[in-house]
Amino acid sequence: MEVRLVRADEHEVAAQLVLAAYRSLPGDHLTGDYAAEVADVARRSREAEVLVAVRRSGGLARDEVVGCVTFVADACSAWAELLEAGEAGMRMLAVRPDAQGRGIGHALVEACVARARALGRSALVLHTTPWMTTAHRLYETAGFVRFPSRDWSPLPEVPLRAYRLVLDCARDPAGRERSSVQPGGQ
Ligand SMILES: CC(C)(COP(=O)(O)OP(=O)(O)OC[C@H]1O[C@@H](n2cnc3c(N)ncnc32)[C@H](O)[C@@H]1OP(=O)(O)O)[C@@H](O)C(=O)NCCC(=O)NCCS
Repeated sequence: MEVRLVRADEHEVAAQLVLAAYRSLPGDHLTGDYAAEVADVARRSREAEVLVAVRRSGGLARDEVVGCVTFVADACSAWAELLEAGEAGMRMLAVRPDAQGRGIGHALVEACVARARALGRSALVLHTTPWMTTAHRLYETAGFVRFPSRDWSPLPEVPLRAYRLVLDCARDPAGRERSSVQPGGQ
């Protein structure tokens, strides 16, 4: 499996994948224009970085797209959702329902963390809904912590919960705070 930028000929399959993953959730948040926004991978790939997880099995002539995420490089992006200067964002993480539970989501999150670090960002911030419980577990495993001061609701029935991974140099590569006790110290 490889994580890389989406190609133009993969926009449609990536869009359908994200919609299918979101539709498999219990809550309904593909309301209003949101389904069309989620499906517009072409626009996201122009205005942000759309990463896909692809696998190539023996008989396949082309890569099979099994996961997708949008990396938002900075607060000026059209896709920035309550980002502040110096922060990067992550949006619309999804893994094809029949490919979930095999580490693909984790690989996409780690690819975004690596991009944010490569750009020297201070933190990676994302929003999720209360019913995205698998995603919460995934984010917490990756070191993200709840960040309630950035919670918001685009609609009354869609409460968005913020999570943040701080990437400053006082943190280890997984984003956890380094111990202030030095090796050999008391
Ligand atoms: C969230 C999502 C992207 C995770 O993708 P994934 O490829 O299944 O994730 P991983 O295989 O890397 O698993 C991540 C963790 O969730 C667990 N997990 C995966 N599928 C699970 C399931 N159906 N039930 C319970 N736990 C599950 C894994 O065991 C793993 O936990 P661990 O690290 O403690 O072992 C995927 O479930 C999805 O597309 N959900 C719908 C869209 C969504 O909620 N997006 C989040 C936007 S904020």
